[in-house]
Amino acid sequence: MAERETLSSRLGFILLSAGCAIGLGNVWRFPYITGRYGGAAFVLIYLVFLLILGLPVMVMEFSIGRAGKMNIVGAYKTLEPKKSKWHIAGPFALFGNYMLLFFYIPITGWLLYYFISSIGGTFAGMGTEEVGTFFNSMLASPLLQYGWGVIALVITALIALGGLKNSVEKVSKVMMAMLFVLMIALAIHSATLNGAKEGLLFFLKPDLNNLVEYGIGESLFAAMGQAFFTLSLGIGAMSIMGSYFSDERSLTGESVRIVCLDTSIALLAGLIIFPACSAFSIEAGSGPSLLFITLPNVFAQMTAGSLWAALFFLAMSFASLTTLIAVFENIIAYWMDMRGYTRKKAAFVNVIIFLICILPCILGFNVLSGFTPFGEGTGIMDLEDFIVSNLLLPLGSLVMVLFCTSRYGWGWNNFIETADKGDGLKFPNKLRFYCAYILPLIILFVTVKGIYDIIF
Ligand code: ALA
Repeated sequence: MAERETLSSRLGFILLSAGCAIGLGNVWRFPYITGRYGGAAFVLIYLVFLLILGLPVMVMEFSIGRAGKMNIVGAYKTLEPKKSKWHIAGPFALFGNYMLLFFYIPITGWLLYYFISSIGGTFAGMGTEEVGTFFNSMLASPLLQYGWGVIALVITALIALGGLKNSVEKVSKVMMAMLFVLMIALAIHSATLNGAKEGLLFFLKPDLNNLVEYGIGESLFAAMGQAFFTLSLGIGAMSIMGSYFSDERSLTGESVRIVCLDTSIALLAGLIIFPACSAFSIEAGSGPSLLFITLPNVFAQMTAGSLWAALFFLAMSFASLTTLIAVFENIIAYWMDMRGYTRKKAAFVNVIIFLICILPCILGFNVLSGFTPFGEGTGIMDLEDFIVSNLLLPLGSLVMVLFCTSRYGWGWNNFIETADKGDGLKFPNKLRFYCAYILPLIILFVTVKGIYDIIF
């Protein structure tokens, strides 16, 4: 087997991991659930969960990758005690990556389509209703969605084909840098709009009454679920980055940086969206349609609206593509590590798989729209999102936490030794009790509650 590739630099590791984390979860899911649960008070809870839940799980996941020097399927096999069954979690994690991309590829396609449409000035002068019609006719057309999905897939596969160091790492670095620049420019522009203040206050000034109104319990669960989703934890998408990273830096310090980058993009998305909505008196808490109906409508009313819309959807496309690139890399790493495929063959096989498997999500909006797994208005994408966000991410994270803390698993000492290798912040040993007992209970509780809520 050819020698395993590694990343060329620490910055590459941080930006590639941040690229994996930063995606639709930051720029779409975060603003719309913040809108739904009443603004700043929800943001505070979310930040707490990132710290107490997301951060420790991320360090554990990176450690499993660093010690296993493989994709998650192989890492469990390498690190588990003899005759134990931890490796059963491996294929589920791998499947989580596939399932995530089954709907992530089509949505990235939507973003690319919106980007090109914005450049062409399509949204100029449109009202909410017309933008709604534009969105719905896109959903109604399997061919249009498939075409753009295939473009997103081909871009991803070509980047993967170029190699880890020379292409995946380099392209992600550039896209992340451009994403930050675009997001900061858009946020400054939003803040300068007339009437932006109300939106800024909603987003930044916590009002506990808002939380009470929307239900504290529900807000807590939404915040916890978001913490897992935004950091792509539990399916090995992060552990693969750990497997490519040298021992020069400790993993806790790097994880703190990655979580900060992820959070800053989510906060920037809020700083772009809420002031812009209030400036044009448009309701922001409008759920998933926020990105595809509300915002084009907001841009349509701005001076130089087509330009701002194009920049905004370009930023969204970068955010989404960096996640696609990282998760696709994790998937082909499995085929290279475990089956001895070349990068080219692994990429080719997986393009074929995705050409077929993105179809259910797309058809769920038109031909198969009669299938409503969670009731009126839901579709196949909601089912796929449920399987990933409510089952595979939290349960995968739970197994990782138990694996790293239990003496029947890989164990605390191995975990700490691996996480603390290199310079930088060390993982606090006094958190052992919390990680071994309280953290798993929180995760279990969130998962069960999430499933209960969706089903009932
Ligand atoms: N972490 C990825 C996102 O936020 C899945 O979109």
